[in-house]
Amino acid sequence: MRASAPGKIILFGEHAVVYGRPAIAVPVLHVRADAVIRSAGERTVRINAPGIGRRYGLSSARPDDPIATIVRLTCARLGVAPEYFEVHIESSIPVARGLGSGAAVSVAIARALGNFFARPFEPETLSALAYECEKLYHGTPSGIDNTVIAFARPVYFVRGRPLEPFEVARPFLIAIGDTGVSSPTKIAVGDVRRAWEADRERFEALFDRIGEIAREARQHIEQGNNAALGELMNQNQELAHAIGVSSPEIERLVEAARRAGALGAKLSGAGRGGNVIALVETDAQEAVERAMLHAGARRVITTLVKS
Ligand code: PMV
Repeated sequence: MRASAPGKIILFGEHAVVYGRPAIAVPVLHVRADAVIRSAGERTVRINAPGIGRRYGLSSARPDDPIATIVRLTCARLGVAPEYFEVHIESSIPVARGLGSGAAVSVAIARALGNFFARPFEPETLSALAYECEKLYHGTPSGIDNTVIAFARPVYFVRGRPLEPFEVARPFLIAIGDTGVSSPTKIAVGDVRRAWEADRERFEALFDRIGEIAREARQHIEQGNNAALGELMNQNQELAHAIGVSSPEIERLVEAARRAGALGAKLSGAGRGGNVIALVETDAQEAVERAMLHAGARRVITTLVKS
């Protein structure tokens, strides 16, 4: 039984979303995590994740192992014992680059297990199961990654609130450039928390401005006013810099993309590394991709954002 889940990018609002402000995220459908569940003769569960060079038994996994956790949680939800099957995971989503690889692996496994036991899950349930595992990646996840990945559609997300319907009036292109720098979400989120604790007034004001940008961006996307998004991305990037999550590698790619004709560019996800996203029109797409590669991007993929 095979199931998969897409990657994702955050268009607006990362970090501020942890503090209750809105954010916008969209799926990236051509990078995916796949999970395959097969019956097995042993009274245990074998986990095979060749992409990260790991093969181990559920019973020997560490208590905080995210793959073991999603297997156990999903089985508990289904009311079945975790035994007599094998979990095989393949993912084309780079790890620790802000593309949601952890949440995608969790959703793919939970979805495959639901199908394997002939009890397919609704996206809400998949999202809730993956959220429990997100807590292992970092202590205070907003829930945006598991939501956008489980629903596989653009989301306007506010922590703790049900998903709001959100339409993309006119599809648009986002070039995603990989800085090549791995940046665990936990570290960036923890650093922002310490900075916020040290100067709450300043950080609350910065988060307010980031939240305003996400609100405005939603209106533009719903009205098909895509060109206006570029300037909002640039403003969001400045604020990301102000909260301390940009980096020289990010700024090199942001600059290169803008100079090559992108309408706007910013980091996406936790920052400090990971991916830079740039809004491009069709005729600038190639030039922006080339410019980002020339400025040090490991790879660039361009995705069409649509409802
Ligand atoms: O998983 P990443 O790197 O895309 O980061 C998630 C976005 C944050 O806002 C930084 C954290 C969160 O839980 O929303």
